[in-house]
Amino acid sequence: MSKPRILIPRAIFPEIIEKLAAHFDVETNQADEAWSPAEFAKHLAGKQGVFTTGSERVDAALLAACPGLKICANMAVGFNNFDVAAMTAAGVLGTNAPGVLDETTADFGFALLMATARRISESEHWLRAGKWDRWRYDLFASPDVHGSTLGIIGMGRIGRGIAKRGAHGFGMRVIYHNRTQLDAATEAECKARYVSKEELLRTADHVVLVVPYSPQSHHTIGAAELALMKPTATLVNIARGGIVDDAALAQALRDKRIAAAGLDVFEGEPQVNPALLTVPNVVLTPHIASASIPTRMAMANLAADNLIGFLVHGKPLTPLNPEVIAKA
Ligand code: DGY
Repeated sequence: MSKPRILIPRAIFPEIIEKLAAHFDVETNQADEAWSPAEFAKHLAGKQGVFTTGSERVDAALLAACPGLKICANMAVGFNNFDVAAMTAAGVLGTNAPGVLDETTADFGFALLMATARRISESEHWLRAGKWDRWRYDLFASPDVHGSTLGIIGMGRIGRGIAKRGAHGFGMRVIYHNRTQLDAATEAECKARYVSKEELLRTADHVVLVVPYSPQSHHTIGAAELALMKPTATLVNIARGGIVDDAALAQALRDKRIAAAGLDVFEGEPQVNPALLTVPNVVLTPHIASASIPTRMAMANLAADNLIGFLVHGKPLTPLNPEVIAKA
């Protein structure tokens, strides 16, 4: 019997290709050529599965061009590259990679908060530019992180990881806002208090965004929200581009409406709003919050196990639209 055919449209760990090749006829793009959506559709036609990395768009047009497709397995917990309704209508399963990147991403969120609040990147650029000629009492002086108020918007697994680091490691007062309030035991474990979004923005010294992207969360932080924040506050976005209005943020940073920002995700990435590149009080990283080697390997393994689980055994591990499984 011939093996199911799958596509891996981006470069990936060789071990993962080997694992998948034991079950599938695999087409890869290890050269990591940049494919247009039309080229992606051309390569995907005739395949039953695809290993997506989180940046390939799966929508009605792609699905119409690939009628034999059965599963798109995302190597990411976020799945805003999937039009899940269109996939369900076409009978195509989507899977994501939850639960394997929470601690690594929380580590990075905290690192970005530290770098932003304590002006680490800004001062390093200044030093490398040869500007350091003597010590000064207020040289790159900043607000404190320990003992301050940490506001977290989005209290899923990653948000809770950041809360614990802040409360237990840095003695921070943690406040959070979320679609639903956590149960009392989880709040106690994270030492976190539920507040309105407005109270959080007004009172937090450091605000970290960890909400999933959806049309409802688009521009959770725009000019109006930035205006509520303390002028000494920092803002960190490790969620998704589009959660923050990047143009409004660049303006707020330029006007010193807030002290600083740390961004790992951007509207329209890998493009970065040019206004953000010209302000000094922002730390910019290229969507790497989950990028420790063990975690990226775990994410890739979970995506591979979803392909094998569904196409070989009929049982995916982390389905997004399980209603299509019965119909497959
Ligand atoms: C995720 O898993 O959603 C991370 O942002 C990596 O893409």
